[in-house]
Amino acid sequence: KIVNVVLSGGVGSRLWPLSRKSKPKQYLPIFDGQSLFEKTVSRNASVCDQVMVVGGVDNYQFSRQILNDKKEGFLELVEATPRNTAAAIAFAAFSLPSDSVMLVTPSDHLIGDQANYEGALAEAVRLAEQGFLVTFGLTPTRADTGFGYIEHEGNEVLSFREKPNERTAQGFLEKGNFLWNSGMFCFSAGTYLQELQLHEPEVFEKSRKALDAASKGFLPLDLSREIPSISVDYAVMEKSDKIKVVPSSFSWSDMGSYEALFDYFPENSKERHGKNLVLGAGSKHVEFLGVEDVILVETPDAILVLNRARAQDVKKIYEKLEKEN
Ligand code: GDD
Ligand code: MG
Repeated sequence: KIVNVVLSGGVGSRLWPLSRKSKPKQYLPIFDGQSLFEKTVSRNASVCDQVMVVGGVDNYQFSRQILNDKKEGFLELVEATPRNTAAAIAFAAFSLPSDSVMLVTPSDHLIGDQANYEGALAEAVRLAEQGFLVTFGLTPTRADTGFGYIEHEGNEVLSFREKPNERTAQGFLEKGNFLWNSGMFCFSAGTYLQELQLHEPEVFEKSRKALDAASKGFLPLDLSREIPSISVDYAVMEKSDKIKVVPSSFSWSDMGSYEALFDYFPENSKERHGKNLVLGAGSKHVEFLGVEDVILVETPDAILVLNRARAQDVKKIYEKLEKEN
């Protein structure tokens, strides 16, 4: 059985004010009327037998709403507090039979070339069934420090390096045999737990304890708080010697920032105003004069105007507002 484990715990703070704790970006229907969450579930539906969502207590009702319409018999785990991806994946793995193949996917990516994508998935499932932890590698186009890098030879992984600094990333690009980690993974539940226990025994034990105490899929807050917060990339991918990679060529983008959205909407789309972008303004008339690379975002209670070059810094505004509230 192949289970699509959808991680939906993030807030998407770099997309404030569109994205809020009360309605994170993956649920916003801004891609031809569909949300990234919906798109994620649909693109994996032909390969996976079941969907399991691991989400947070603030947003699980959005996933539930969408899946109630779309997918029968989905599974759901609700975190009382985010403990990062090593634990989120462990909760899913502990609740599935150990030979289940898990296709772990973020809920906030856009992927094109469906046939090509499904080919990569089929290859990954084959390797997962042989007991490997499978990553999907994409050809890097810039020295982005927000990604993991996979040094490889074919399917073999020589090393996995999460979020290197810019100089190191530049070096990886020059060496030429490094791929970006897509953030999706494929492995059996048993293999993942074995490797987690080996490399991060505390995350393994405490995640199991918390899951054992869960009631109807809701994890308890007290036991969750004790789980070390570490991402799967640092906890397992950098350390395990069972990693494989499927070098992939489907189109892929992490819709993490307004810059990514800027690039997503073509110049002839209604969101684009020449060299500027407008989101959320509804039917309001907007004009720009003498400026370019400006992004204007409007919601009922907030307006954000930024230069696209500052898209990564929106997170700082979000954090400042969080502190003030
Ligand atoms: N349920 C749950 N609980 N989900 C979580 C949690 C949590 O505590 N923390 C993060 N997530 C979800 C996010 O919502 C997202 O869908 C996914 O897990 C990955 O987390 P990110 O925070 O977006 O990770 P990242 O972008 O910094 O890095 C990862 O993705 C990159 C590609 O986009 C890494 O895997 C990198 O190696 C990779 O290159
Ligand atoms: Mg991400």
